Amino acid sequence: MSGSSDDLFDYIVEKLANFVAEEEQRFHHPADRQRELGFTFSFPVMQTSINTGTIIRWTKGFSIDDAVGQDVVAELTKALKRKGVEMRVAALVNDTIGTLAGGRYTNKDVAVAVILGTGTNAAYVERAQAIPKWHGPLPQSGEMVINMEWGNFRCSHLPLTEYDHSLDIESLNPGEQIFEKLTSGMYLGEILRRVLLRLAEEASFFGDEVPPKLKSPMILRTPDMSAMHQDASSDLRVVGSKLKDIFEISNSSLKTRRVVVELCNIIATRGARLAAAGILGVLKKMGRDTLQEDGEKTVIAMDGGLYEHYTEYRECLESTLNELLGEETAKSIQVEHSNDGSGIGAALLAASNSSFLRERSL
Ligand code: GLC
Repeated sequence: MSGSSDDLFDYIVEKLANFVAEEEQRFHHPADRQRELGFTFSFPVMQTSINTGTIIRWTKGFSIDDAVGQDVVAELTKALKRKGVEMRVAALVNDTIGTLAGGRYTNKDVAVAVILGTGTNAAYVERAQAIPKWHGPLPQSGEMVINMEWGNFRCSHLPLTEYDHSLDIESLNPGEQIFEKLTSGMYLGEILRRVLLRLAEEASFFGDEVPPKLKSPMILRTPDMSAMHQDASSDLRVVGSKLKDIFEISNSSLKTRRVVVELCNIIATRGARLAAAGILGVLKKMGRDTLQEDGEKTVIAMDGGLYEHYTEYRECLESTLNELLGEETAKSIQVEHSNDGSGIGAALLAASNSSFLRERSL
């Protein structure tokens, strides 16, 4: 996550080579035919064609300075050459775009894709004419997809707490990805740690001493927070054992554990409600936040570990979306989990830009 560009792409190629080596016989390619790859790259890119684009900046804790401004596909292609792996990158795809393409392939009502995982982002289908940035020829369909990079949204109406500010300042990308820092999996556990630390320091929440481990950044991961939040045992056993395993806090009282669960709830609820507000914003932009006269449905393809595994977060997001849309409109909007939609979508886009298939007009 913090080495050189060559280290990163060599690592990816090494994993690719292992994958190819383990492929079943029936997937082996004839010697004269190059393998073609769909490359899901889940970071902000200035995309200049279906298989070229330069890295704008890193997010989610990555920090590989010499890669910024480089063409991702050219870097990967150089690494493929260095390692002697025969492969052509046929499509460079953000995970939101992959999820949109994968979802749309099986269901034509999919018009929005949202990722809620380590990071967060959304993509949607826009009328090409409504895109002032686009100066090229209009596509035949009249539509284009937009990767919003909504994780980088910030606005003076978005209240930030002192915990958000300190998390941001101490992050690898201060001032950037503010919406992502309020809503996504990489940060929710860290917000909780900061609140617990302050309680320990200022209210002796865990006794006279501040448990030293509470001061370690990023030590509390969101899956652990989710496990504490979901603890249904009468003595909040899971909360007790997480506090012990992660922070070496033993013998926490039931009262303390209850407060921890309540804090999980506050932090997850804020994140989920903001994510739902983001989705409503996209639907509004598309004119789909009200009942459609033709009865058309809108499906939102959703992927990412946070949405998939954090039940309270998911349920809160869905109920907030219904609340914002109102009962009637909510019936025409559907959120669908698309498991590894981004990988499948990238493969489909690679197939549609395959030089092998094009040469044979398939
Ligand atoms: C980060 C990236 C974005 C990606 C999202 C979800 O926000 O900048 O490109 O789509 O994470 O993985």
